[in-house]
Amino acid sequence: MRIKARILVTGVGGSGGFNFVSALRTAERAGVAELFIVGTDYNRYHILAPDVNVRHRTPRHSDPEFIPTLLTLAKQYTIEFIHPHPSSEAKVVSEMRKRFEEEGVSLYLPDASAIAPSKDYIIKRLNDNGVPVPSTKIVKESEDVENAFRELGSPLWIRARAGAGGRLGLKVNTPEEAILWIRLNVLQGRATWGDFLLHSYLPGRDFAFDSLWYRGKLITSYARERLEYPLRHISLSGITGTPSVARTIHHEEINRIGTAAVLALDPSPHGFYSVDLKEGADGKIYVTEVDGKWHTTAPLWGEAISLAYGDQTMNLALLYLHLGITGALDIDVPKYNLYPEGLYLIRQLDTGVILYRESDGKTWRVR
Ligand SMILES: Nc1ncnc2c1ncn2[C@@H]1O[C@H](COP(=O)(O)OP(=O)(O)O)[C@@H](O)[C@H]1O
Ligand SMILES: [Mg+2]
Repeated sequence: MRIKARILVTGVGGSGGFNFVSALRTAERAGVAELFIVGTDYNRYHILAPDVNVRHRTPRHSDPEFIPTLLTLAKQYTIEFIHPHPSSEAKVVSEMRKRFEEEGVSLYLPDASAIAPSKDYIIKRLNDNGVPVPSTKIVKESEDVENAFRELGSPLWIRARAGAGGRLGLKVNTPEEAILWIRLNVLQGRATWGDFLLHSYLPGRDFAFDSLWYRGKLITSYARERLEYPLRHISLSGITGTPSVARTIHHEEINRIGTAAVLALDPSPHGFYSVDLKEGADGKIYVTEVDGKWHTTAPLWGEAISLAYGDQTMNLALLYLHLGITGALDIDVPKYNLYPEGLYLIRQLDTGVILYRESDGKTWRVR
């Protein structure tokens, strides 16, 4: 498995995009890739971090100049493949995929409808396909909040229908708490009534299932448990988007439900999909989110483990790029449990990235 390509990666300044580029550079140093990478980002500071050949700022994904800017860069640098990393950017690139293909730029993305879908759409798709989700009520007015507590009990989990990283999520114990939360966020202009959902509260373990698909077929996947979030003590919900400590697990039920969740969202998955799952008070596992996007740490897991084990066939960003460009893999990868169990990824602000193996206490400094 060796790949030589000229690629454009968007959102390279964010942690996820940075991780994607860094994983590919690791593959390069291991001698299995040779890449020219044009990296883009909106943020003038964050764009300085990633190891790209050329960095170029773009307007936001919602700006009419966003797609034309990417097309111009693709032409200027004779780009063969585009990987828009943040889901907001991936969604508009997927919508406009024809314009890239016409210029000879290939991409490997889910249909736009499967990227960053609203939470109520996700819950409906999963429910309709028999995938377990927390009981859910859409909130339009304060009466809906009262009814939700009457029907679902207490506490509940409130959150915004759109957005990521636990946006406007909070455990609420009473209708009053939920209503005050909505009122404050409406008053401060972050949301409107009608933007919120209430779910039954899932108190148990916090899991993720990450999977790579090609034209409807599962290529590979792994599952992990999130153990800590960074800066959680200064956040009201304790959920700050991406974990500072997580552990790989082999868990048949998560693999089964994760696969069913992806297929419920997109009957013909093509690209990378992430699923979030949580354990309920009854010990059962429920899906809270499925999205045709990369979890922030997915490429970092691949980078860390491929480095530690000296095996680039576990580098997810490399597998993705290989499939996206050539349409096939010339190696065998397992459909499930790509990574050994009991590996911990430890990452905090300023402390670098550590991989820790539970079985023998071995640690690797990844970055
Ligand atoms: N019903 C719930 N009960 C308790 N915690 C929840 C619930 N739904 C979501 N969460 C927590 O919020 C985190 C983020 O929610 P998620 O569904 O992944 O949406 P997003 O990442 O788009 O904000 C989850 O990983 C989980 O820890
Ligand atoms: Mg999530």
